[in-house]
Amino acid sequence: MSLRNISTKKDSIKISDEIDKQRIPEHVAIIMDGNGRWATKKGLPRSVGHHKGVSVLKEIIKVSKKIGCKVLTVYAFSTENWTRPQKEVDFLINLFEKVLKKEIDDIHQESIKIKFIGELSPFSKALKSIINISEALTKNNNNFTLNICINYGGRQEIVKVAKQISQKTFSGEIKPSDVNEQLINSELLTQGLKDPELVIRTGGEKRISNFLLWQLAYSEIYISEVFWPDFDEFEFCKAIIDYQSRNRRFGGIESLTEESFKDSSCS
Ligand code: IPE
Ligand code: IPE
Ligand code: MG
Repeated sequence: MSLRNISTKKDSIKISDEIDKQRIPEHVAIIMDGNGRWATKKGLPRSVGHHKGVSVLKEIIKVSKKIGCKVLTVYAFSTENWTRPQKEVDFLINLFEKVLKKEIDDIHQESIKIKFIGELSPFSKALKSIINISEALTKNNNNFTLNICINYGGRQEIVKVAKQISQKTFSGEIKPSDVNEQLINSELLTQGLKDPELVIRTGGEKRISNFLLWQLAYSEIYISEVFWPDFDEFEFCKAIIDYQSRNRRFGGIESLTEESFKDSSCS
């Protein structure tokens, strides 16, 4: 079955059979967008969309594990999201704490390593504490890694790396000529992680919104028109199948034969 023929949810049972098990992206990143619009469209408060978004995340973790992804990195709160009305910000931060407390035992049972990526200092003691507990509890789980980006911004991350590297250069620990991509990778909040092969954005917006600016350099981008609270196994598998049809060239070309390249410049 080609992706074109998969149009109804009825096909969702079969859709995972369409995934090429040999080409599963190891690391998938998701911009979970559209909670507010989903709720507003239904005449509900935006908070209902955020709530529903949590159960969708649980489903997507299960599916990505099932199909063989190893790392899922989700964008839950950006450095710019503080500019939202205080009530929404408070609601979201409370939600993170409540959900983490409720789910951490199951996360551990499922052998998932959980990590939080972002500047955590502005969060409450209670949230930071449950984050520390959860990361410590699950740190040796090696089945699957879930990274949750909160108070995360790609530019802020790069600024932080620049500061760390300048400090090391200033103290003589390294020389300016030691600065290379490998060193920058090792200073990023995502250190040790392979770059995502695929980034999915739900909710239809065609932008990155300050997410993993360095790491997404060659990631395949998949935009889903579906709002995050309506995203599900079917939509996720569609994204994976679409990814599998891509020709990843990394700036190169597939093959170069004498015939396919002729110097066309005027002689
Ligand atoms: C994504 O949904 C969740 C967060 C940014 C916290 P939004 O809240 O951005 O929902 P829309 O995009 O306004 O619909
Ligand atoms: C990106 O969504 C951030 C998260 C999903 C956490 P936003 O809703 O904040 O992004 P913009 O405002 O549409 O760019
Ligand atoms: Mg949004």
